[in-house]
Amino acid sequence: MLCSSISPVLTVSLVGALLWNRVQGFWVIHSVPRFPPIAEEGYDYPATGRRNGQSGICVTFKYNQYETIDSQLLVCNPNIYSCSIPATFHQELVHMPQLCTRFRPSKIPVRYLTTLQSAQGQTFLHFAKSDSFLDDIFAAWIAQQLKTHFLTETWQRKRQELPSNCSLPYHVYNIKAIKVSRQSYFSSYQDHAKWGISQKGTKDHWTCIGDLNRSPHQAFRSGGFICTQNRNIYQAFQKLVLYYEDCN
Ligand SMILES: *[C@@H]1O[C@H](CO)[C@@H](O)[C@H](O)[C@H]1NC(C)=O
Repeated sequence: MLCSSISPVLTVSLVGALLWNRVQGFWVIHSVPRFPPIAEEGYDYPATGRRNGQSGICVTFKYNQYETIDSQLLVCNPNIYSCSIPATFHQELVHMPQLCTRFRPSKIPVRYLTTLQSAQGQTFLHFAKSDSFLDDIFAAWIAQQLKTHFLTETWQRKRQELPSNCSLPYHVYNIKAIKVSRQSYFSSYQDHAKWGISQKGTKDHWTCIGDLNRSPHQAFRSGGFICTQNRNIYQAFQKLVLYYEDCN
């Protein structure tokens, strides 16, 4: 996956990786803790990602999208554990080198929504929230913004759950179990994944993949979701839904 032609630049965050050169690069957004490992440890899938279900997406972007991605990272403030950004990029991608040194400017947007274009012209929306947006990103923002009811699959932990939410015009329902094949299904308590899709039957077919759970604690965390209306991606996720929790 790591093409040698893209090798000089690498930043790795808690739940993602970004690589690029002056032509293009890719952004992996996923839920696997400590993946990829730091370069000195070699390239392998970590044990931390084996116990539970995980989700992720990898998108190729032309370099002209990287200033936008750079600004989004400032807002979602990933916990970066490995960085290598040559000085030649520092004037264009100003935030990433700062984030690598743990420097944070004092003025950061509370949240920011932007459009990104993949290298082959697919449109993505990226929702970034800072830790001062003290709300559930799905119920308070993404569902209302995209005007679609969402089914969300995020890591559920007993006594740390936000219930399904129908208070606002667009609802958010917690998926409680997914099926991977006809014989095999598992509960969201074992699924560390973080994604949401438009409820079946709605005309919009959104899929969002990101790095925040629907949990009261994660309202205090920064993070984000990347969303697409790609039909193949939607169908792949839609097929996984076994059942979800209605509102009380
Ligand atoms: C639903 O979500 C909104 C936005 O986060 C919140 O203000 C509201 O209190 C929630 N409703 C319930 C019943 O939890």
